[in-house]
Amino acid sequence: MGKKPPELTVVADPVALAQAAANRLAGRLAAARDRFAVCLAGGSSPEALYRLLSTEPFRSKIPWERTHWFWGDDRFVRQRDPRSNSGAARRLFLDRSPAPRENIHAIPTDAGSVDEAAGRYEALLRGFYGADRLDDSRPLFDVVLMGLGDDGHTASLFPGQAELAESERWVVGVAEAGLAPFVPRVTLTFPALASTRDMLFLVSGRGKRGVMTRLLAGADLPAARAYAHGDRVWLVDRAAAPERRDVA
Ligand code: 6PG
Repeated sequence: MGKKPPELTVVADPVALAQAAANRLAGRLAAARDRFAVCLAGGSSPEALYRLLSTEPFRSKIPWERTHWFWGDDRFVRQRDPRSNSGAARRLFLDRSPAPRENIHAIPTDAGSVDEAAGRYEALLRGFYGADRLDDSRPLFDVVLMGLGDDGHTASLFPGQAELAESERWVVGVAEAGLAPFVPRVTLTFPALASTRDMLFLVSGRGKRGVMTRLLAGADLPAARAYAHGDRVWLVDRAAAPERRDVA
C-alpha cells in the first residue's frame, strides 16, 4: 500500500495550487448529494486554499449547511495559539464563512492529555460515521487534505514512530513530534485517513524539492505510505517538483 510512486500534477505556483485544489473540492461538492465531510491539514501549504474557500466564486459553491470540517491532525495547544491547525483554519476561512459552528469538528486540544483528546475525537468520528468499523465502500470523508513535511511526515505521522503501524485506532496521541513545532500532537491514523473518496496532497515551495525527490525515488516515507480507498492526488507547484535529472 502506498508503494507505487506518486503521480504528480504540477502547477505553476502556489496561487495555481490553491486554485486547482479549490476546483477539485468544488467538483466533489457538486457531485455529492448528501452531507459532505472534509478533513483539513495543518502547516502553511493549504493556507492559500483556505483563504480562497471563503471568497467568491468558491464561497457560493460550498453548501455550508451540509458540509462538515474535520482535521487530520493538530498540535496539542489551545486554538488561540498561533501553532494550532484548527485555529489557523478558523482564522483563514471558517470564521469568515457561513459554516454552522456545529459543523466545525476540531480536535479537542483542551483535553487533559493527547490520549484523552484522541479518544474523544475518535468517538466523535465514529458517531458522525454511524459505525465502529470503517467500510471501504462507504468512506468517512469526501476529501482529505494532506501536507508533506521536510522529513516525509504527513498529518502527524512521523518517520520511525510507532503510530505508523496503527491499524485499529482511528486517532492516536503523539507524545513527541518529529519536527518543529515540538509540541505533542493528535493525529488520525492511516486507516482513518484512507477512508476517503479523494486524498489530496498539497506541496509547495523550493524547500520541498529534496523530500519530493526522495519520495519519487521510492523512499519509505510516511507520506508514501498514505493510501486512500478513493483517488490519491499529488498537487505540487513547480518550485517543489523535482527536475527530471533530480529523479533519474
Ligand atoms: C502539521 C501538519 C503537517 C504539515 C506538513 C507540511 O500539523 O504540522 O499537518 O503534516 O502538513 O508538515 O507543512 P508545511 O505546509 O508548513 O510545509
